[in-house]
Amino acid sequence: MRVLITGGAGFIGGHLVDRFLADGFHVRVLDSLDPKIHPYGEPPWLSPQAEFIQGDVTDRETLLNALKGVDIVSHQAAYQDYMPDFSHFIDVNVTGTALLYELIIEKKLPVKKVIVASSQAVYGEGQYECPEHGFLLPMPRSISQLQAGIWEVQCPKCGEYCLPRVLCEEHNNPYNQYAVSKLAEEKVALGLGWLHGIPTVALRYSITQGPRQSLFNHYSGICRIFVSRAMRGEPFIIYEDGKQTRDFIHIQDVVDANMLVLENRNADFQAFNVGSGHAVSVLEYAQAVRNKSGHDVDFQISGEYRRGDNRHSISAIEKLCSLGWQPRRNLSTILDDFIAWVDDIGGIPDKIADPYWQMKKAGVVVTVAH
Ligand SMILES: NC(=O)c1ccc[n+]([C@@H]2O[C@H](COP(=O)([O-])OP(=O)(O)OC[C@H]3O[C@@H](n4cnc5c(N)ncnc54)[C@H](O)[C@@H]3O)[C@@H](O)[C@H]2O)c1
Ligand SMILES: [Zn+2]
Repeated sequence: MRVLITGGAGFIGGHLVDRFLADGFHVRVLDSLDPKIHPYGEPPWLSPQAEFIQGDVTDRETLLNALKGVDIVSHQAAYQDYMPDFSHFIDVNVTGTALLYELIIEKKLPVKKVIVASSQAVYGEGQYECPEHGFLLPMPRSISQLQAGIWEVQCPKCGEYCLPRVLCEEHNNPYNQYAVSKLAEEKVALGLGWLHGIPTVALRYSITQGPRQSLFNHYSGICRIFVSRAMRGEPFIIYEDGKQTRDFIHIQDVVDANMLVLENRNADFQAFNVGSGHAVSVLEYAQAVRNKSGHDVDFQISGEYRRGDNRHSISAIEKLCSLGWQPRRNLSTILDDFIAWVDDIGGIPDKIADPYWQMKKAGVVVTVAH
């Protein structure tokens, strides 16, 4: 069996390359080596056993060439960031995915299954419960609310604070450029897959962490930024009040989820959350990094927030668990494995720009008025 892994030089794609090779697949990688992710070119972890094509998923000839003789497509390539080049998110994540199906269908390629990387980002501000009005899918918190430093989600009808629910697959509510592009990517894949009989699965990863996660982009921030600040003895800059919560999942649990849905036909034509199902606040995360690093750094609640950020995002994971998957590694293992990898590569290079200043300059990190 031959698998094409788009984005196979990246963090998640690279771990999938290793797993598919270990499981006896012929592996082909298509990756543009986006300089934002790979400023030094091909990453050292890219296995020489994998066939490597450098190219863009939005380029017709390149993608067609990469698809030759392929049984399985693992579509991991994407543009993920917080920066305001909105159209680029749509070009790569949506047009690239549509082109994949266009070519499979037009050229009658014998692809047996496509797995696309979706994201927890498709839930936007999330799913909440007003004590009086019940379930709601809120709009993102307004600029005036954020400027006033009111962080929790409020009911649009009565103004009461709402409680977050775990995120179920049946609802989605994206607003920012990345989230919209990932939902559109998923809909293109599941919709065209269904209409043309190409078994397709979309996996909505939570924040995936572990060795090899990009040290360079703005998106995969918290682990790298806190670890590198801890190592330099610098304070952690914490947005909002630090009580916002996230769901962190170990890269190997994500790899296991991919292999499970590959084998299991009951997964076809559906989207699944792949997360830990546990809430970790940014402050708890910061404490965990501080404990692991052994550096007694300060936390600085900076009075800032990130435009387009959401307040609470914890995935419900029962749907994928019912097919036999379980997250098996916790936050402590995530941090141990990430720090061990950083040690292995000789530390986080000093010359990596702290994305904080770039996001600040681009107006992504905003200071509250009061
Ligand atoms: N890491 C996470 O926390 C997370 C969470 C949710 C979803 N995802 C999704 O998982 C997938 C993999 O993410 P990752 O964290 O490994 O990212 P990554 O940036 O490490 O890897 C993405 C790879 O895609 C390549 N790429 C980018 N644009 C391309 C293009 N136009 N053509 C070909 N290759 C291109 C990059 O060079 C990179 O090697 C993405 O689809 C992402 O949206 C990731
Ligand atoms: Zn209400």
